[in-house]
Amino acid sequence: KYVFLINQNLLPFKFNIFTSKNHKSTCYAIKNMIVRGAGAIGAAAGFAMAQAFLEAPKRGFFKFVETAKKRIENTRPTAQNLFYATNKVFYSAINSEKPVKTAIETAQKIADEDAHNCKLIGEFGNKLIKSGMRIETHCNAGWLAFVDYGTALSPIYTANMKGKDIFVYVDETRPRNQGGRLTAWELENEKIRHSIIVDNAGAYFMSKNMIDIIIVGSDRIAANGDVANKIGTFEKAICAKEFGIPFYVAAPTTTIDLNCKCGADIPIEERDKNEILYQSGVSDKFKLTKVMIANPKSGILNPAFDITPAKYITGIITEKGIIKPSRNSIQKLLAN
Ligand code: MRU
Repeated sequence: KYVFLINQNLLPFKFNIFTSKNHKSTCYAIKNMIVRGAGAIGAAAGFAMAQAFLEAPKRGFFKFVETAKKRIENTRPTAQNLFYATNKVFYSAINSEKPVKTAIETAQKIADEDAHNCKLIGEFGNKLIKSGMRIETHCNAGWLAFVDYGTALSPIYTANMKGKDIFVYVDETRPRNQGGRLTAWELENEKIRHSIIVDNAGAYFMSKNMIDIIIVGSDRIAANGDVANKIGTFEKAICAKEFGIPFYVAAPTTTIDLNCKCGADIPIEERDKNEILYQSGVSDKFKLTKVMIANPKSGILNPAFDITPAKYITGIITEKGIIKPSRNSIQKLLAN
């Protein structure tokens, strides 16, 4: 009945579990980024859908779960895994003789599948990493952003586990600092050497020959291989091409959306201006605080994602192998 989520808004300062008692509360957690990251959003959305089936009254059962599905889908528009999960739980449950049981089982299956796929992404991606490599990553696509393992960070964890000597440049990732807060915390926990760099520093380090490979995650991949990921990813990809650095995207096939023919079809979430106007953190006394860091009377634009065209991407690391970002390769991959 309850969904337990690591409250990512408090990390790395405080480890706290958010207990969601009903599907509306899980929607709140997704919208307010208590849980965030493509796979984690997907798993949470699947469980929110299952909660809705549990909560639905006998009379008006269908209307209730249908309305709940829309409510869950309205929380965050870009992450494809959210829609994959709501549809999978909803349709398997309404077509079953035991809808509630099926909804719970399907939600759990989606979470297990995510963990399994991300582990395989780690194994395939590890083949790209040689000992001594310096890797740049953007935002957080590690074990917090998925059920386990993560995508972009999964090859890094595997390489580290196999004893390879690696170093990670962690893009801070404004405005919410998922890199500086979450990726850095994960890497510290895994005892992987790393440094946080400001978002604007990528080209500098690339030009100094200090980065060998870039691996990022994805929130949605279009049928032609264009990729939506955290704002700033596109800039890194352009710089990587300029300096001849391989640029990889890691994502499970559940992130591919064939209904989006190209990147322009992917909806980009516009988030609250307060994410740019304020910064939250801890004071010297380790008290969580929020301070204003920009001119309050200015206009603010806050797109959460951008689209990296396929031509900038060296390859997509999936649970089924590494492919070229093209319509053909994606079709073949999904047919397998
Ligand atoms: O807005 P978020 O934090 O949910 O964004 C998702 C991301 O972390 C990324 O864009 C990520 O690099 C790929 S999905 C984990």
